[in-house]
Amino acid sequence: MLDLADVQGVVLRGYTMPRARHLVLRVDAAAAGRELLGSLVAGDPRRPQVTTGTPWTEKPDCCLNLSVTAGGLRALGVPEESLATFPAEFLAGAQARADRVGDVGPSAPEHWLPVFGDPGFHLLVSLFGQSAAAVDRATDDLLAGTAPGLTELCRLDAALLGARVDHFGYVDGISQPTVGDAPPPGPPDRLPVAPAGAFLLGHPSQFRDFTYPVPEPEVLGRNGSFAAFRVLSQDVDAFRELLAEQSRRTGSSPERVAAQLCGRWRNGTPLALSPDTDSPDPPVPADALNDFGYAADPRGERCPIGSHVRRMNPRDSRVAGGGGNQHRIVRRGLTYGPPYDPDHPRDGHDRGLLGLFIGVSLRDQFEFVMGQWAVDGRFAPGLGRTQDPFLGSGGTLPLATPGGGRAELRGLPRLVTTRGGAYCFLPSTTAIGHLAAL
Ligand code: HEM
Repeated sequence: MLDLADVQGVVLRGYTMPRARHLVLRVDAAAAGRELLGSLVAGDPRRPQVTTGTPWTEKPDCCLNLSVTAGGLRALGVPEESLATFPAEFLAGAQARADRVGDVGPSAPEHWLPVFGDPGFHLLVSLFGQSAAAVDRATDDLLAGTAPGLTELCRLDAALLGARVDHFGYVDGISQPTVGDAPPPGPPDRLPVAPAGAFLLGHPSQFRDFTYPVPEPEVLGRNGSFAAFRVLSQDVDAFRELLAEQSRRTGSSPERVAAQLCGRWRNGTPLALSPDTDSPDPPVPADALNDFGYAADPRGERCPIGSHVRRMNPRDSRVAGGGGNQHRIVRRGLTYGPPYDPDHPRDGHDRGLLGLFIGVSLRDQFEFVMGQWAVDGRFAPGLGRTQDPFLGSGGTLPLATPGGGRAELRGLPRLVTTRGGAYCFLPSTTAIGHLAAL
């Protein structure tokens, strides 16, 4: 059985908080870092505590989770022999692995926010709050009285846009994996339940007869997870122009073009269930919005094979290696930057999505999905070398028309640019205590 109290809550459940703040801290003195970590799990009443997977009876004002980079583990005093047992991609870090996930051109690390190139990016403290005031209070409690030897390098804030939409206007956060032994993330769907070991070290994984090696010592590795922390800037002007232009060119409505890019209508209705309208009669009930597969739509006539959600989770589609359900990712993101105002386009503000993409393996989940499915199309019939309409550098989106025909949206621009990436380890609460006692 899974020990929910040992697991960081962010891995297993969405807090559905409207505010988030991610604090990047540098550990200048190992003792100061250890003191902070210890205070976050030892019940210190002056400090917010790490939120675990234990279900709560009353929703707290603020939740806290802690991630550590490879440099952070080193700064806390983890010996090199132990570090060497961590996966190579985590040790190499997001910058070194950038070209594998399509972080090239304007998304390349040399254009990232300076903190992501700072060797002092050691700790990432993620706060999720019911209000901006709750996040501010937790920030103050966290930083008040930290021993000299810890430096805040940066804080990145995010907030829910009305109606759970992203800056392109799509409802987000509908599909999350259901994890065995953990409370379900939403209403039941027909997707296979992911084993706990797809997200937590030390348990049988999503691959048959395989458990990922637990970094040593076991007390440090077990029940830990890995996360790619990402800042993704969205070009809303380009998105709106794209809808207008493709609509002119193809005769489809702008909303239909938007749905083809995503695989869901902007109100969240999946094309797989309602290919012709975002308001079917009868409507798709809210608890059925994720209850579908693609097996009955092998050509992509209902939902384009190359659309964002079908690429990111091909479900029961035919894909190379047959692993459509084996690379699932837990997404904990919120929007940053001001809402886009169509009456004041090109306002020069940066806006997008930031957050954590979590799994038991950065290589087999985040990097796989980005490298094999988002920025290459050769995993699925008919996609060729096309890229994800949201996450790629532009190009074409192949479409299948009824009766065996083919069409495409072409001349797609780059819509999303990476502004930062960091590979992090989310230790269990036991492991945080272990690091504190090093
Ligand atoms: C700014 C960038 C992004 C935007 C605007 C975006 C937008 C969306 C939207 C609107 C959905 C549909 C809502 C849902 O099914 O929950 C979605 C689903 C999803 N996205 Fe993204 N996304 C972005 C980045 C990413 C990245 C970087 C990844 C992967 C590493 C990713 C992976 C997924 C996955 C796995 C799903 C669920 C697919 C499913 O299970 O059907 N997304 N995204």
